[in-house]
This record gives sequence, C-alpha cells and structure tokens, in this order.
Amino acid sequence: MTERTSELRDTNEKLHTEIAEHARTEGTLRQAQKMEGVGQLASGIAHDFNNILAVIRGYSGFLLGSKNIPAREHNAVQEIDLAAERAATLTRQLLTFCRKQVMQPQHLNLNEVIGQVTTMLHRLIGENITLEIEGCEEVPNVFADRAMLEQVILNLALNARDAMPQGGRILIRNTVVERSEEDARRNPNTHAGKFASFSVSDSGCGIAPELLDRIFEPFFTTKEVGKGTGLGLATAYGIVKQHNGWIEVESAPGAGSTFKVFLRGHDVAPMEERAQPLAVVEAVGGNETVLLVEDEPSLREMTEMLLRDYGYRVFTACSGLDALNGWPNHASEIDLVLTDMVMPDGISGRELAKRLQADNAELKVIFSSGYSREDILGNDVNFLPKPYTPSKLANLVRDCLDGKINAVRVTPTSDVPSIESSHDMKRGLDDNSDSSLSLAS
Ligand SMILES: Nc1ncnc2c1ncn2[C@@H]1O[C@H](COP(=O)(O)OP(=O)(O)OP(=O)(O)O)[C@@H](O)[C@H]1O
Ligand SMILES: [Mg+2]
Repeated sequence: MTERTSELRDTNEKLHTEIAEHARTEGTLRQAQKMEGVGQLASGIAHDFNNILAVIRGYSGFLLGSKNIPAREHNAVQEIDLAAERAATLTRQLLTFCRKQVMQPQHLNLNEVIGQVTTMLHRLIGENITLEIEGCEEVPNVFADRAMLEQVILNLALNARDAMPQGGRILIRNTVVERSEEDARRNPNTHAGKFASFSVSDSGCGIAPELLDRIFEPFFTTKEVGKGTGLGLATAYGIVKQHNGWIEVESAPGAGSTFKVFLRGHDVAPMEERAQPLAVVEAVGGNETVLLVEDEPSLREMTEMLLRDYGYRVFTACSGLDALNGWPNHASEIDLVLTDMVMPDGISGRELAKRLQADNAELKVIFSSGYSREDILGNDVNFLPKPYTPSKLANLVRDCLDGKINAVRVTPTSDVPSIESSHDMKRGLDDNSDSSLSLAS
C-alpha cells in the first residue's frame, strides 16, 4: 500500500513538472509570436518612413550642395538635414529590430570586441559605477557585424547604468556555453550546440516579473518622457536574432539583472581588419543614360532630379512592368538601370534586371532598397541602401558605369520569359498601354 502511494506520488510530481514545462514552452512561443507581429508592423512603418526620409535628405543634400544659397537659408536647410538624419537613425533602429538592416559580418573574437567598447563605456557610465570585464580564453569566435555587436553591448550597459542611479557594479563576462538537444526542446528560443556568450550583469533595481515579457517590445519603457525611447532592448533583440542567436534575462526586483547573449561559435581565426580610407571623394557625374525604376512618386522625382543635375539623361518607370513595356523603344540607349527591389505588380527589381540583361548583357544594374541586402539579394550585386544622400547616389552610379565595382550580371534562368514575350503578354492585357517610360529631357 505504502509502496503504491509513493509510486503514485512520484508519478504525480512528474506530471506536475511536465505540465509546468509545457506551460513555460507555450509562454515562450507566444512571446516569440508577439514579437514577430510587432516586428512586421514596425517593419512596414519603417519602410514607408524610410522612403519619405530619402526624399527629405535628397533635397536637403541637393540644396546644401548648391553654391549660391544665402547663409541663413543654408543654416535652415542644414537643420532640416540634421533632423532628418536623426529620424533616419530611429528608422534604422526599427529596421534592426525587424532584422532588416544591412549586415557586414566577419569573424570576430568577443574578448577583443568587448575590450574595444570598454573605453567608451567607462566614459558613459560615470564614476559611481564600477565596470568589471571578465574575458574567457576558450570563447569561440563569432561571425558577426562588429558595429551591431557593439550596439548590443552598449544598449545593455546603458540600461544597467540607468538601473543604478545611486551607483553600483556592472560585470561583462564572456563564456562558452554548450546546449543539449534536450535544452533546445525545452526552450524553443535556444538551439543545441556550442555558443559564445557574453552577459551584462548589474546590481541595480531589477525588473518586476510582470514586465519581463514586455521589455523587448519596441517603445516599451518605464523611463520618464524624454529619458528613454524604449528602443534599446528591441534593437538588441533584433540584432541578436539577425545573427541567429538569442537573449536570456534573469532578474528580480532589488536583486539586479543579468542579460545573456548567445551567438553561435565559429572556429575560424578573426581576420585582420583593414583600415577604411577616410578620404572624402567629391561626387562626379556623367552624360550616360540611366533608367530609374521606382514606384514611390516623390522618391522617383527626387532621384531623377539629382541624376539630371549630375548630367545624366534619365528615363523613369513606375514599376517593373512599366520598365519592361518601355524597354524595347529605348533599349539601345540605356547604359544603367537603377531599380527599387520591392515593387507592385509582381515584378521585383531582381527579376526586372534578369529580363533586361537577357536582352542586353552589357547593361549595368544597381539595386536600391530600404531593406537589407541579405533579405533580398546575394553579396555579388551593387546595392544602394535607402535613404541615400546625393553624393552616395552619384558615386555609386559613376563607379558602376566605370566598371570600378563588379558589373552585376544577374544570371538568367529558364523561367524568365524574354523581353519580347513579356512585352506581348502585357500588350495583350492592356492595349492602350503606350509606354509611360518617359524621357526626361
Ligand atoms: N538592466 C536593467 N535593469 C532594470 N530594468 C531594465 C534593465 N534593462 C531594461 N530594463 C527595463 O526595460 C525597459 C526597456 O529597455 P530599453 O532599453 O528597450 O528602453 P529604455 O532603456 O527605456 O530606452 P532607450 O534604451 O531607448 O533609451 C526599460 O525602460 C526598463 O524598465
Ligand atoms: Mg535602454
């Protein structure tokens, strides 16, 4: 009888543990889905906003570059440009949260990355907080974007500082972590394998359990108006997720907080970094012919004006289909296509390039987008991230025309119809579609 009772007790306990585990897994999953939803919403807004900012910065850059503008007006335009730049930074943070940021990964050693940011951190955290760094010899290298990782460390450290207005201690620690298949099964956010991990711990106020689920949401802040935007952790979350890693938090009110970042280890030695030349190059123009394909009218007009101002002859099209329709009339004149990536009516920039290059193998192509290159393209293409400044645009167009950067050849595939056939297809659908591909004289 006693044996049976103890057996039942054991089974009961096991069941309780399993139910609790299940509830935890479900909670994590719900949280991940919520973040995904918020991410999609933020991504849409940030993308539209990016286009608007591209127009503002394009025109302000254009005005700042003109010689005969009076000083007072020049200052006013400079203020507009600076404000737009700040807005662009915010948009970039949002795009980072939704993992739509251009990434430049390289093999890095975490000890070295953290060592580099420490100097800056000392300056930022003030004198009443002690900063301790604990390196780890065995920590594997990671394949990551240095600036993005620095941003994560900085955001976590600044939060730690803010949690300790009376002073305290911040500890940044590197470790190697191995996770089993069983761990990965229990927590859907984690993966099995060997990871490089760094944690930022503080002895601050800690986080109430009911807030823990919300702290990574964009714009969630408990700070006073003007003190925090609530984008610090959302940005960190987006960056780490973009690196296929994850963040874990341990915190309790009054007991401080620890944020642990996990990144997959890559046993490849870090490359020696090449110094970036800082020389400012004056933007140069030319007299070639550019086909500009952009669905956002104000952005199209602005870019057209800038290109013409740099001396180019410009044709414009408002979509991939529009460009395909007008192409046969001007194919021999066009030297370069500058196209948006995501456009209405189903023909992406990439597909458009494939079709046009099937007709003219020499055609140069530049892709432009507010999304990251990784999301839409390979590494082998000319990419102009939005928003762009007039000189960035001009320099890339010139370099591409001069063959200074790889002449992009988008490999045609068998499923791509030839220009003629797609043109006929469209004609069949819409008979009065006299090309709106217009020559800007
Ligand atoms: N180390 C920490 N200790 C206590 N609370 C924290 C800590 N880190 C984050 N939080 C809580 O999470 C919230 C969100 O953090 P997040 O970094 O996203 O935004 P913020 O710091 O409020 O503003 P921003 O970083 O944009 O200036 C904070 O307002 C705070 O309530
Ligand atoms: Mg913050």
